[in-house]
Amino acid sequence: MELSNYVKELNTQKEIFEDVYLYAKDNHVPIIDADALNAVKQYIKIKGVKRILEIGTAIGYSAMHFASVSEEIKLTTIEKDPYSYELAKSNIENSPYNDRIELILGDAKEVELGNKRFDFLFIDASKGNNQFFFDKYKEYLTDDALIIVDNIFIRGLIVEDEVANKNKRKLRDKVRTFNQTMKDSEYSTSFLNIGDGLLVIY
Ligand SMILES: C[S@@+](CC[C@H](N)C(=O)[O-])C[C@H]1O[C@@H](n2cnc3c(N)ncnc32)[C@H](O)[C@@H]1O
Repeated sequence: MELSNYVKELNTQKEIFEDVYLYAKDNHVPIIDADALNAVKQYIKIKGVKRILEIGTAIGYSAMHFASVSEEIKLTTIEKDPYSYELAKSNIENSPYNDRIELILGDAKEVELGNKRFDFLFIDASKGNNQFFFDKYKEYLTDDALIIVDNIFIRGLIVEDEVANKNKRKLRDKVRTFNQTMKDSEYSTSFLNIGDGLLVIY
């Protein structure tokens, strides 16, 4: 067994939302990898997070997992695709977390959240917009908030040098620039080789 598979297996917990997970797999809905999910939940737990903002709901899978960490957690999540939003709504309504998860249908580039404040931001939407989402939503964070960005390796594309497809090349360059900008910033960062890559920013 490869070391990476060994670690992945150790970092994968028993699925608690089997139906939602299987729906995502069967219908090619991109959801967070199991080992990355475990790591993010661990950060939420250790930090005692109470108010989570998620950019990119899909069908509510990660939102429900994050809400399951503690009864004290309230979560706001933004999704722009109406079909995914409806599925997320139904999944969340059928979960024990309906009163703690607020779902917003809209483009996260445009949504305004008023005077809401969060101590944890999870960025998991269109990967080329990571910098935009970071800049926009850091305004809604408490001073000691933690930010995690998923898929910073874009399934390996990030280290490919010869990329024929123009759009893919553009995406790779945008994510590379974002990762480097964060590394060079005043923030404390760690780039984790878990799942499809997690960037933890403090
Ligand atoms: C990787 S999926 C989210 C997966 C989810 N966080 C999970 O792990 O269960 C990304 C989602 O972000 C949504 N999305 C992409 N761009 C967006 C935007 N500008 N505003 C809101 N949602 C967006 C997509 O429609 C898609 O459902």
